[in-house]
Amino acid sequence: MQNLIEKMPKAELHLHIEGTLEPELMFDLAKRNGLSLPYDSVDDIRAAYDFQDLQSFLDVYYQGMAVLQTEQDFFDLTFHYLQRCADQNIVYVEMFFDPQAHLSRGIAFETVLKGIIRAMQQAKTDLQVESQLILSILRHLDEDDGLKALDLAIAYQDYIVGIGLDSSERNNPPEKFRSLYQKARQAGFRLVAHAGEEGDASYVRGAVEVLRVERIDHGNNALQDMKLVAKLREMQMPLTLCPLSNLKLKVVEKVSEHPLLKMMNLGLKVTVNSDDPAYFDGYLVENFTAVQEAFQLKPNQLIELAKNSFEASFLPQERKAHYL
Ligand code: ADE
Ligand code: ZN
Repeated sequence: MQNLIEKMPKAELHLHIEGTLEPELMFDLAKRNGLSLPYDSVDDIRAAYDFQDLQSFLDVYYQGMAVLQTEQDFFDLTFHYLQRCADQNIVYVEMFFDPQAHLSRGIAFETVLKGIIRAMQQAKTDLQVESQLILSILRHLDEDDGLKALDLAIAYQDYIVGIGLDSSERNNPPEKFRSLYQKARQAGFRLVAHAGEEGDASYVRGAVEVLRVERIDHGNNALQDMKLVAKLREMQMPLTLCPLSNLKLKVVEKVSEHPLLKMMNLGLKVTVNSDDPAYFDGYLVENFTAVQEAFQLKPNQLIELAKNSFEASFLPQERKAHYL
């Protein structure tokens, strides 16, 4: 079973590139940039990754990013992650990045984008790992701040396939970004949004009906509303589930309580993803292994999850067909 999980070609659709910053690289970059960290060692950092909820993680995640300063830093971050993809037979990935979290620290958009794109290009030729970028809007900031990031995405649209919505979910409902999503849709971006991770089912409904997304990131709490579930099934709306993230952020108490299997049995289109693997004790293979062990998934179910990841991707249809 482990062999199948490792060897089958996989796509990852819910991955924050800033969430792949391993403590070792954090130390290296801090040193290179002459910064001091509030930790004494790599072990010290890992010990601090004991989260109570989404916000307690986000506080550490935004602080960790402070070491990312130069184009080379963003290259190193991205290339390290894409090397992991090659190791785990992840042949295609759609990566989120959070430009507002860098602009607010005085890092230019071009610095971030150039470093990431150069790593993506090198990974394609050297590692045969393909990738696309999704610019994610920070929902704890106001819509005007997000619109500035969207304008940058429009200026660099050749390099960005979609627009997403992340950060603190509760009290920042999808409706807050109605105009931004309308503008993004008119510009031709593919649309996704985090919903139903900590927010209730109404956040998932709002993402689908008001923002008109093509994919929901997480979506766990959709199960609170069976009419919504019927609609998601009807639409075959993909949900990018993140089991180990949900465990670390106490969205679920145990992997066996994760809604993945229930959703599969309800006929929903679910995928397995790693979210912020450097913070949540596992990349994609470890997420697959966790749900296989918790639910005793059969080979055909693992293969279905991997196929879903390609089907739900923003690859052109003829490229998807190769994996289905
Ligand atoms: N930003 C990075 N990871 C996130 C998550 N799991 N939820 C919301 N925002 C995030
Ligand atoms: Zn996420």
